[in-house]
Formats: sequence, C-alpha cells, structure tokens
Amino acid sequence: MNATPQKFLECIAEAENGVLTEKPNEVVTGFAGTKLTGLIQRLVAAIGGDYLEVGVFQGSSLLNTAYSNPDIKCYGIDNFDFFDPKSENKNMVIDRAKQLDISNYEIIDKDFEIGLKEFDGKIGTYFIDGPHDYRSQLMCLAYGVSILEDGGCMVVDDANYPHVRQATADFLHMYPEYKLVFEAYTNCHPHNMTPDQISSARDGWWDGVHLIVHDPEDLFEGITPAIPHNSRFVRDHHVQIVSHAPVATEAAMLMASLSKPWRLPKSIVRYMRARRALTSEIKGKFLTCNTDSSSLSKNTATIK
Ligand SMILES: C[S@@+](CC[C@H](N)C(=O)[O-])C[C@H]1O[C@@H](n2cnc3c(N)ncnc32)[C@H](O)[C@@H]1O
Repeated sequence: MNATPQKFLECIAEAENGVLTEKPNEVVTGFAGTKLTGLIQRLVAAIGGDYLEVGVFQGSSLLNTAYSNPDIKCYGIDNFDFFDPKSENKNMVIDRAKQLDISNYEIIDKDFEIGLKEFDGKIGTYFIDGPHDYRSQLMCLAYGVSILEDGGCMVVDDANYPHVRQATADFLHMYPEYKLVFEAYTNCHPHNMTPDQISSARDGWWDGVHLIVHDPEDLFEGITPAIPHNSRFVRDHHVQIVSHAPVATEAAMLMASLSKPWRLPKSIVRYMRARRALTSEIKGKFLTCNTDSSSLSKNTATIK
C-alpha cells in the first residue's frame, strides 16, 4: 500500500475541507457527514487498492467514493433490509450511478456476514456502516483482517455509540497491528439534534467516526477510545434469557414513554404489534434463564 503515516494525517487534516467534488451530492442522499465522506475519498486516493463498504443505503458514501476515484473498484454490501420500506434503495443507487456516469462500482446484495465471508478480493479502504450492534461491529472489524491489504485502513461510522466504541476497543486489543489514528464525535445522534446541530453534523462527522490503520511496523502511537462501563454488556445476557426478549426494544421504549406520556399510545401500539408478530418466538418459553438448547446434541470431531 502507498500511504505513509504522514499521508494518513494529511488526509485527516484535509477532510476538514469537505468532499473532493460536489457533483455526487447534487444527486445522492444518505446518512453521512461531509467531512467523513471527504476523509474516505482522500484515503482511497492515497492508499490505492479497492474500496469496500458495508451499509450502502441510498449510495451516498459508495457513489461519492466511486465518482472521485474513477480508477478504483468500489464494492458495497447491503441486504437492503433496513430503512427501505418501499424496497427502492437498491434501484435508487443504480439509477444515481447512471446519472453520474459511474461504472466502477458493484453492489453485493447480501447479508454482510455472507458478503464478507464470500469476498475473495483484497481492499485498501474498508468502510463499516451497516448494523451497529456490538457483535456486528466486531464481526465487520474481524472480517477486515482477512480482506485488508497490508497498510490499508478501516473507517467506522457511528462511533458516537458506546457499543461501537467498545467493539473498536476490543478489536484493537485483539489485533495490536491495528491502530486507532483518528476519532471524532458529535454531542449526540442526529436523531436527537436541533435543526442547526443536524446541519453542522451533516457538514461534519455525522454520528462520530473511527479511523483504524493496519500498522505492522508500529509507526503510530495509537489512540484508545473511551469505552462504557462493561455492566451494560453484562446486562445484555440477562435481557436475552427472558421469555419476552424478542420484544425487548418495544418493551424498553414503552417503559421510557412513561416519562413522556404523550408518546404512550404510539409505544403501546408498537409493543402490541411486535408481541403479535413474535408470538411464536415467545410462546412456551420459561420466564427467564431460557437456553434454547433442547434440540442440541452431543458431537465429537473426527480426525481428518
Ligand atoms: C446507515 S445505513 C448506511 C448509510 C450509507 N453508508 C450512506 O452513505 O448513506 C445502514 C445500511 O446498513 C444495511 N444493513 C443493516 N444490517 C445489515 C445486514 N445484516 N447485512 C447487510 N446490510 C445491512 C441497511 O440495509 C442500511 O442500508
């Protein structure tokens, strides 16, 4: 790979100036900050090698990157299962690519774990912006180890979230050849921002970012991200084993609405709907300590 540590720091500093070209943003929409998109565009140009992202949505980061780096192949993995109620996002990306005359891209329409497992190329820059639960974040980072070229980098979106920071921190402990060389945060998720704050997040780092560089020669003094107290991860076990765990999100929202009573009717409807949809997953369970192990068997490996 081509980029020296100095070059990485230059890309970070220059990202403050925003995107490399305004043209794609006349056509694309998405959940991405301008500085974050500018950082990715510059990293891809500096490092060389292919680009891969998990989480395409309507193509903002994929098409901005492909447009500004026409000689680089840009892959995007998405199963288009989220934020897409009318199932139109994939075609939107294809149409927008046509409008921008972009052909150096490929959509891998799969669950991220299947897409990453099957991916048989090597990449220079890897952008992680798919499912943000702790396990998915850690899996995305771990798959990165086998697909990243020496000296390549991984960019993690939504690093504001504590479980995203925790996944980065755990990954860095497990893989000391990787260093966190840049972190930037905004004061909350854009969902909870005022219109002014949203516009500044859109011009900036959106919902937080981590830049992790493969540094086998130990040239960087890496950063350690701030992580939450691990009690929230311990608590996760106690939630998962309760009979109503499948509706835990809706149940927690319902409880939260008790302090905002005008939200109660909506929360009750959502909870009841989720319960109805997930009855088969809830029915017949113990109150707690569910193990889902009744159909498991004893197995021993054979010697090849
Ligand atoms: C926040 S959006 C990505 C935003 C995008 N990077 C942009 O520039 O606008 C997250 C995307 O991740 C995708 N996603 C979520 N879970 C996934 C999974 N298990 N496998 C593949 N894609 C997934 C969703 O379909 C959604 O399009």
